[in-house]
Amino acid sequence: MKLTIAVLPGDGIGPEIIEQALNVTKAIADKFSHELSYEFALTGAAAIEAVGDPYPAETHELCMKSDAVLFGAIGDPKYDNDPSAKVRPEQGLLDMRQKLGLYANIRPLTTFKSLIHKSPLRAELVDGVDFVCIRELTGGIYFGKPQGRSEDGNTAYDTCVYTRAEIVRILELAFEFAGKRRKKLTVVDKANVLATSRLWRQVAQEMAPNYPDIQVEYLLVDNAAMRIIQWPKDFDVMVTENMFGDILTDEASVISGSMGLLPSASVGVHTSVFEPIHGSYPQAAGKNIANPLATILSAAMMFEYAFKLTKESALIREAVEKSIEQEYVTEDIASGRKSQSTSLVGEWIIAYIKNK
Ligand code: IPM
Ligand code: MN
Repeated sequence: MKLTIAVLPGDGIGPEIIEQALNVTKAIADKFSHELSYEFALTGAAAIEAVGDPYPAETHELCMKSDAVLFGAIGDPKYDNDPSAKVRPEQGLLDMRQKLGLYANIRPLTTFKSLIHKSPLRAELVDGVDFVCIRELTGGIYFGKPQGRSEDGNTAYDTCVYTRAEIVRILELAFEFAGKRRKKLTVVDKANVLATSRLWRQVAQEMAPNYPDIQVEYLLVDNAAMRIIQWPKDFDVMVTENMFGDILTDEASVISGSMGLLPSASVGVHTSVFEPIHGSYPQAAGKNIANPLATILSAAMMFEYAFKLTKESALIREAVEKSIEQEYVTEDIASGRKSQSTSLVGEWIIAYIKNK
């Protein structure tokens, strides 16, 4: 098969982890005789510096004509304490999501047996956790207008907007996901306070009878935040609006032991994007210490979701599991004295794939 991908390393540790994920992708393409072609493009702070735009038109064109996008991370501390900055790197990510119509962000949460001890939660709570958070990605308070400041600068506002159509399409995807899994769907909202949440809940209640084999549960977001830590095995598929999903998945990542382990797929109207859930980790940039596994696992999701090549994605996951079992890992998940560099972990995984 011919696979054409756009590679967007972005900022901070982005280039280092993307290098490993791309090398793994090449190794898999080789092994299974796929013809891989890829092209790099600018995004984030790197793109602002080069062309003044965090998601330049050329980058968008490349994404549109590719079969999948492999994405690193975005963000640079230089912009964080400058409220007057006209353009921010994160805007590039939001533009990309909006222009590609990526309304669903799929974040699977599983644990690795050999890492259970790294979780701050008790082993019996964590062992066997397996759920998927489906986060709405192109609506809500991230995109609602108006957003801004009053003229005197002393009042600021964001607007949370959802239309029925936006809610229906993400819920359809979530119901279908649940149907293919353990048939339980948790709809997370704040219907006791927010009008948008009440519309979400109403639409979910209207749709539920069309999926009679799925058990639907409604949870308020504050309660959900507690339950994720208290009894994570209770969840199968969770669906929620943009900002709640952002917050809950960072929280959920501690279950697995490190944020450096969690991949994601963003899907929707145009080309899908595969990226780790973690950020650009600027403190580690250039040090060759960042965990490449979340990005490598995102490449596994790319083979599964964008190319429908399940053997390929399974082999990547197997190689990652083995590297963890062998304790050939970066410092964030190393238990003994010895930890490995980003590139050595990537090379170990590639060698495993080649020799398999
Ligand atoms: C994420 C990130 C982004 C988000 C930021 C970088 C804009 O935290 O992908 O979870 O909030 O969506
Ligand atoms: Mn986030």
